[in-house]
Amino acid sequence: MTTAGYCIVLFGRLAPAGTSAIPDSLCENECGNTLLSSALFVDHFRNFPLESSTVSHPQAGPSLSWSNGPFKNDRVHAIRCHCPNMLQAWANRTRHWPPSDIVEKVVAMGAFVTPIGFKGSKHIHVEWRICFNTGETELVNSLNDTHIKLYMLLKMIAKDILKPKMKEITSYTMKNIVLWLAKNNKSSLFHSESLFHWLHEGLDILRTAISTRQLPYYMIPERNLMATSGLSNEQQLLWGRTIKDMMEEGPRILLRLDKFRKAVIGYPEPLLWYSKMRTELEMWQLKLFNRQLQCEVTNSMVFETDTIVQTCIKRTNEIQQEVAWRMGIDGSSFDDVKVLKMMLS
Ligand SMILES: *[C@@H]1O[C@H](CO)[C@@H](O)[C@H](O)[C@H]1NC(C)=O
Ligand SMILES: *[C@@H]1O[C@H](CO)[C@@H](O)[C@H](O)[C@H]1NC(C)=O
Ligand SMILES: *[C@@H]1O[C@H](CO)[C@@H](O)[C@H](O)[C@H]1NC(C)=O
Repeated sequence: MTTAGYCIVLFGRLAPAGTSAIPDSLCENECGNTLLSSALFVDHFRNFPLESSTVSHPQAGPSLSWSNGPFKNDRVHAIRCHCPNMLQAWANRTRHWPPSDIVEKVVAMGAFVTPIGFKGSKHIHVEWRICFNTGETELVNSLNDTHIKLYMLLKMIAKDILKPKMKEITSYTMKNIVLWLAKNNKSSLFHSESLFHWLHEGLDILRTAISTRQLPYYMIPERNLMATSGLSNEQQLLWGRTIKDMMEEGPRILLRLDKFRKAVIGYPEPLLWYSKMRTELEMWQLKLFNRQLQCEVTNSMVFETDTIVQTCIKRTNEIQQEVAWRMGIDGSSFDDVKVLKMMLS
């Protein structure tokens, strides 16, 4: 038995063609069963070739990360996994949100396993975490403007005010809080005037999560997201007090967030626009990186003149300019590099 939200991957048979990562990661347990080891799987990808100006960082969980100038990227290799019961159990839950067409879409997107076991488990090296990245992206894309603003405010609070040193609280924590609020409360209550009410509710959930070290994962409620957060008693007390103060402060809380971020939140256009631009920018950056790798590995393409590369660079510049321009209306001036850094941070 594994902790809820984790699983063990039993070997059935090899596909006729496929990556050597799978045969390289097989191992046997004490009962003689062949399993796919998550630890060996991560090892397999550790020596993946990187472009020369790129710096690799120490492994963090299932991800291998690298950076290149202001850009920081995480690489997680995941495997598609067929577990319709889990998604069906999620789809069966009563909800105010999302609408049923989105629920169906998320179910159809399926699940993945990523190579990370439950911290402290005896079988950590063969455990995998079940996740729904594509489904969760779909969910976030179907949040409405108030939900998104709430999510961004909570993310900023984590980053700029709580400043976790060891990822005890992450934007993923905040995403789950917003998904729970959206699911359990009437959608019509998320109108533009209610943002600070929901921020108060969100902070209240966060405070409880910190003081009880309990926050159910939105997709699999049996999994506790705080179980492996590594939250210390000191941190728990400190954050408890900080959050209480913020809840009493109300909208003035915005004064604590840095100017640039406030410009984003205060912007009259729906934040949805910004969030879409940011997703698109991230996509072009990833595409650019992949292409760069391909050019280096195969030596068959010239990076500078490659049309895909040109398109990536062109779109990145356009997005940057559009965002800078829109923010410029506010009377502030931002240069391009700053915009790119802000959007990717
Ligand atoms: C979901 O609900 C259907 C219909 O009520 C039921 O037949 C099915 O067993 C439920 N599935 C899960 C995984 O809970
Ligand atoms: C709103 O959602 C939160 C989070 O799940 C929940 O605790 C709260 O009870 C909900 N409010 C109402 C009025 O149902
Ligand atoms: C969010 O959705 C609800 C219900 O669909 C709606 O009443 C509310 O006005 C929406 N809020 C915004 C800011 O679009």
